[in-house]
Amino acid sequence: MSTPSDSQRMEKIVSLCKRRGFIFQSSEIYGGLNGLWDYGPLGVELKRNLKNYWWRVMVHERDDVVGMDGSILMNRAVWKASGHEETFSDPMVDCRSCKARLRADQVIDKKGVRQCPNCGGKDLTEPRAFNLMFKTYVGATEDESSMTYLRPETAQAIFVQFKTVLEVSRKKLPFGIAQVGKAFRNEINPRNFTFRSREFEQMELEYFCRAEEGMRLLDYWLKERLKFYERIGISRGKLHVREVPEEERAFYSKANYDIEYDFPFGLQELEGVAYRTDYDLSQHQKASGKSLEYFDEETKQKFIPHVVEPSAGVDRTVLALICEAYAEDQAPDEKGKMETRVVLRFHPRMAPIKCGIFPLLKNNAQLVEKAKEIVDLLRPHMYVFYDESGAIGRRYRRQDEIGTPFGVTVDFETLGEKDATLRNTVTLRDRDSMKQRRVAIGELAGTLLADIT
Ligand code: GLY
Repeated sequence: MSTPSDSQRMEKIVSLCKRRGFIFQSSEIYGGLNGLWDYGPLGVELKRNLKNYWWRVMVHERDDVVGMDGSILMNRAVWKASGHEETFSDPMVDCRSCKARLRADQVIDKKGVRQCPNCGGKDLTEPRAFNLMFKTYVGATEDESSMTYLRPETAQAIFVQFKTVLEVSRKKLPFGIAQVGKAFRNEINPRNFTFRSREFEQMELEYFCRAEEGMRLLDYWLKERLKFYERIGISRGKLHVREVPEEERAFYSKANYDIEYDFPFGLQELEGVAYRTDYDLSQHQKASGKSLEYFDEETKQKFIPHVVEPSAGVDRTVLALICEAYAEDQAPDEKGKMETRVVLRFHPRMAPIKCGIFPLLKNNAQLVEKAKEIVDLLRPHMYVFYDESGAIGRRYRRQDEIGTPFGVTVDFETLGEKDATLRNTVTLRDRDSMKQRRVAIGELAGTLLADIT
């Protein structure tokens, strides 16, 4: 149950996201569309930093994983074979009093009496299956023959291209195929800001292996994925590993962990690490009539590999990064009086803007020119922001609030006016400690890169 301070914290986060351009409602000028969100200039940077880092860790830093980028629309036969057309549904209940459509698990049970969470009404239908896939038509004819779905997971594109990718990449088991992309689910009740959205992004790895290696690799990937979250600044103490019990797992799944994050609205899943066995490849081999077997050169055996799947939600992780980073502390204002400071303590790797660059005064041509030189010097390496307007303290605060880890100020010492030995040095300010030190301009890029890569 969330406490009032948790819901206040969430309200502040949502309001900051809108005010500073991280996330806003889709189609807002028309009243929005439930469960759909747009990422603004800062949100898109944060999201890209997350996806790029995932790609680096899961693909570039490994010899046993390659990437792919599949289409969102696929032949309907894929969704029949995978079982999604038949079973990818949530149980839905209608409230006959207020007409709300509810996910069955949202219905309140008061001493065995079912109650609508919206209006308190007790006249509810029995649960029935509601398929979560969005239907669409391909081509000019809108009938059954042209119907397909927006993909509800990126994984199936990997399964149906498994053999092709295996051949072109010349990999041997165990090996994986990674993909980052959009997926769509017509959620009955989208909620908790971007957490449960109808359009979202996934970062999925399908890691193919021999059957006897499945359980060991499931544990291996759980550990790898926990390390990943710590490397993007999510503390281990806020993560929880849930072993999904058999009755909640798909019938083909041998074991499954959920990695959950302690959001202000409760513990919720960021990523599933699932052992999907050989179910998907077997289904597609059966339905397509095409072999999806692996040939082992050494043993001369042919078999369908098993698969372990770490599947992470991009939008959920972005939200976790923001919730983890949000802090309020005390900092002195221009006159030295303490005031509340809102700061996003992003890991420098994830921060949308890495460094703010400020001439001390905007009406001094030499300071401005030097600051712009520093912008040009750093730009090839990182996303920086130049700001000359307002008192320096206010400029720092604006960057603190969007999580910029470093600030560089060009002052009269940079110009060598006070002390010739300080010529071409700048003040480097740290967002979290607010401490300042002097760094030579020539060493700035190297100093900052050590923290942001
Ligand atoms: N591919 C697993 C999932 O979409 O949750």
